[in-house]
Amino acid sequence: MDSIRVFCPASVANVCCGFDTLGFCLEPLGDEIIVRKSHKPGVRIVKAEGYKVPSAKKENVATLSILSLLKSYPVDFGFEIELNKKIKPGSGLGSSAASAAGAVFAVNELIGRPLTRRQLILYALKGESKASGASHADNLAPVLMGGFTLVRTIFRMDVVKLPVPKELYVSILHPKIELKTSYARAILKDVVPLECAVSQWANLGALVSALYTNDYDLLSRSLVDSVIEPYRCILIPEYENIKETSINAGALGGGISGSGPAVFALSRGLETAQKAVEAMANVIENVKLEFDTYVSKIDPVGIKIIE
Ligand code: HSE
Repeated sequence: MDSIRVFCPASVANVCCGFDTLGFCLEPLGDEIIVRKSHKPGVRIVKAEGYKVPSAKKENVATLSILSLLKSYPVDFGFEIELNKKIKPGSGLGSSAASAAGAVFAVNELIGRPLTRRQLILYALKGESKASGASHADNLAPVLMGGFTLVRTIFRMDVVKLPVPKELYVSILHPKIELKTSYARAILKDVVPLECAVSQWANLGALVSALYTNDYDLLSRSLVDSVIEPYRCILIPEYENIKETSINAGALGGGISGSGPAVFALSRGLETAQKAVEAMANVIENVKLEFDTYVSKIDPVGIKIIE
């Protein structure tokens, strides 16, 4: 195989109580990456469409991730990349993770697939850390492994794939303002009050249990973020209103998608998810901000080969 084209899905990280650990991937939105072997050594972006990303090798998350993979798996040829960036950087929908994961996935296929999807997370983390200024794999894991994932630790890349209840749908409202993950992380506090920590790990445990037992009521009760949301909510216009409106429309609950500004709501059933997204959109329409919306199942597969 000399060339490969892959679809790299958008993702929702944190999922309220799982800061830097929980995430899931979406079906309808994603980047496309074509990677081709080249006689010329090195890694180059030869075409970039869609949202703008840095093109310098040491700045671009895709090239950085590939270079980290090639350090462990050297080859005597190079790679050319064509990137169609459909996930807006700074959206909270895992834009950098999609590029980083897609790039290492494609190269891994072109060099004979020496690594599993799970093992690729470590190499994609190199690019992802550059973009967000911190090492977190809560977007990369669901993009590479599909479905809902829990990153227990990035140090030995201990990642658990969680089950997805059949009737679970996600509504996404993406207000078109840019929020850099590095900034949204910089405003967080290093010290977490004990009562907030207790609430957070209780909810995380409950959420994981709800996924295994298809307990939508428990899922709803556990969609609470006592640690991060109190600091980040002020960065998103009408945040509380959007969240409350989605719950009034029938959603189980929701929160900030990754580091924002996108907001997500989980619902039982497609019809409720559609009602929730319409309600969320109405709020943001009233403040005259541009936005996108998506309603999606949780994609069980993650990155897919298109051709
Ligand atoms: N867990 C990361 C954060 C996700 O919230 O900063 C960024 O997409």
